[in-house]
Amino acid sequence: MNQQKVIISEQLGQTLGEAISACNHDRLFILADETTERCCLPVVEELPCLKGAQTIVIGATDTHKTLESVVHVWEELGKGGATRHTLLINIGGGMVTDLGGFAASTFKRGISYINIPTTLLSMVDASVGGKTGFNFRGLKNEIGVFNNANSVILDTTFLKTLDEENILSGYAEMLKHGLIANEQMWATLMNFDVEQPDLKVLGKMVAESVAVKQRIVTEDPTEKGIRKALNLGHTMGHAFESLALQRNPVLHGYAVAWGLIGELYLSAIKTGFPSDKMHQTVRFIQEHYGKMDITCDDYPTLLELMTHDKKNVAGVINFTLLGGIGDIRINQTATKDEIYEALDFYREG
Ligand code: GLY
Repeated sequence: MNQQKVIISEQLGQTLGEAISACNHDRLFILADETTERCCLPVVEELPCLKGAQTIVIGATDTHKTLESVVHVWEELGKGGATRHTLLINIGGGMVTDLGGFAASTFKRGISYINIPTTLLSMVDASVGGKTGFNFRGLKNEIGVFNNANSVILDTTFLKTLDEENILSGYAEMLKHGLIANEQMWATLMNFDVEQPDLKVLGKMVAESVAVKQRIVTEDPTEKGIRKALNLGHTMGHAFESLALQRNPVLHGYAVAWGLIGELYLSAIKTGFPSDKMHQTVRFIQEHYGKMDITCDDYPTLLELMTHDKKNVAGVINFTLLGGIGDIRINQTATKDEIYEALDFYREG
């Protein structure tokens, strides 16, 4: 897979100009969704490096992460005269960077693309690491390919207009990165005022957080081994997210934060994660993310959802757990009783 450059930008015009010049291209296209068209395109459209670029817009939110949207992007590229040497610039949250990355990776067997993530979640997770795709037949990211963007440009000025829920959603992935990285990063995250964030400090934390992900995906781009570390909190998290979809949909990061509660509990009982650090992290999550209302009647559904997670092999639920902060244990499993106990802890802990 091609190498991916992650650039922390303070001067978007200059950084993007350099990234575009580094890709030999004939035509330039920008992909946005209806939200980033309104909120972010005005910031970039006037940049000299985007002069003459054609804009493609798709519907916003995960409900538009569909084959129909991919087809729309392919059609607009075709109508606009895109060739094998065209460059696509995806500007938006994870939906846009995932879907745009897929459309670029498959159009004429693959054209280059650059990601400009505009949400905290996509800055620290989705836009980095080459996972592209879309939802299919009700399954999230069911169709996709691994293919890196040429560059990912992180400009935290976009965070100025992000609401608190979306900051918290991205922050859950940063918490995950802190837990799999080291105590210092975890402690910084625990002590940061995430509800009234100092954006300058947050910008530095974003850079450190992305570096954790980048180190891991460089070592294991296609998730054969250590990349599974990034699934911490996600086996239970995806189950919460899918259950919420049937009731009251929640932002991805909230479900991950709740998943971290259950999976840190499993880490404490199975792989020796220190109880004091588990309780401290759980308190932080409860304080900022609240709780999804579940009862023990939901346990079989949640277990069923975990059993169908696409990370599993032969139907055995695959967890990433921790022996301590930074002590990653991939390919762990748990019994039904242990999982139910973790859900009890989630409800009562
Ligand atoms: N979001 C986890 C990964 O990129 O592997």
